[in-house]
Amino acid sequence: MRRCHMQNTDDLQKRFETFAAKLPVANFGNGIDWEKARQEGLITPLSSLQGAVTMQLPDKLKKPMKLGTTSPRSDVIFSHEEHFAELDCSSCHPDLFNIQKKGTQAFTMDSNIFGNFCGACHMLVAFPMNDCRRCHPQMRNRSRF
Ligand code: HEC
Ligand code: HEC
Ligand code: HEC
Repeated sequence: MRRCHMQNTDDLQKRFETFAAKLPVANFGNGIDWEKARQEGLITPLSSLQGAVTMQLPDKLKKPMKLGTTSPRSDVIFSHEEHFAELDCSSCHPDLFNIQKKGTQAFTMDSNIFGNFCGACHMLVAFPMNDCRRCHPQMRNRSRF
């Protein structure tokens, strides 16, 4: 790709900084709240490299789902709607998650931190794992485990 062979990375960095200056701030990761940016219409990501997906999100998946854990404090809220806004179904099913509710095996926090399940994206291309509260609304944030 052309970007990999760009000579002047300072220029690329400057262009990114100018673009990012308008975006809402987050406390973790690269400091940008990308989800808020999308909701405010400041960015319009495509769902796949092939372009926008025309499929509608089935009604049954519109409500955020609670992924149960060992205690209520560690309950996770997962929104298909927010994810589908910029990812197609095959980004997650069937490789990362079983499509049956509670069908995903060994779905623990440890495994997430080692880059599985949610951790396949959250750490690399989406807000990082130390932003506990965004997945666990009842928890406080910690900077490390
Ligand atoms: C960002 C990842 C991600 C994307 C993208 C995604 N899903 Fe899911 N989906 C999940 C997770 C996580 C679960 C819960 C799995 C579990 O409980 O083991 C789930 C569960 C489901 C379920 C079972 C829900 C229930 O209430 O029975 C269905 C059906 C489903 N997904 C369909 C889809 C479809 C259709 C799409 C595309 C429109 C899609 N998913 C996109 C992560 C995703
Ligand atoms: C295929 C990649 C991918 C997977 C897998 C994935 N996410 Fe995300 N998620 C994203 C992207 C991209 C965003 C939007 C960018 C951002 O907020 O950093 C996002 C946004 C979110 C948000 C929205 C934050 C907000 O401010 O509302 C939450 C919460 C979230 N993800 C939780 C989860 C949970 C829980 C799982 C696992 C069940 C998961 N995600 C799996 C890519 C993924
Ligand atoms: C990107 C989303 C995400 C983030 C960020 C996140 N978690 Fe989790 N967490 C999960 C998921 C998914 C599970 C397993 C859900 C299930 O069992 O169905 C989980 C489970 C847990 C559990 C229950 C025990 C276990 O191992 O399954 C604890 C405790 C926990 N997380 C702590 C934390 C702490 C502390 C942080 C911040 C340092 C954090 N999590 C950040 C998604 C996340």
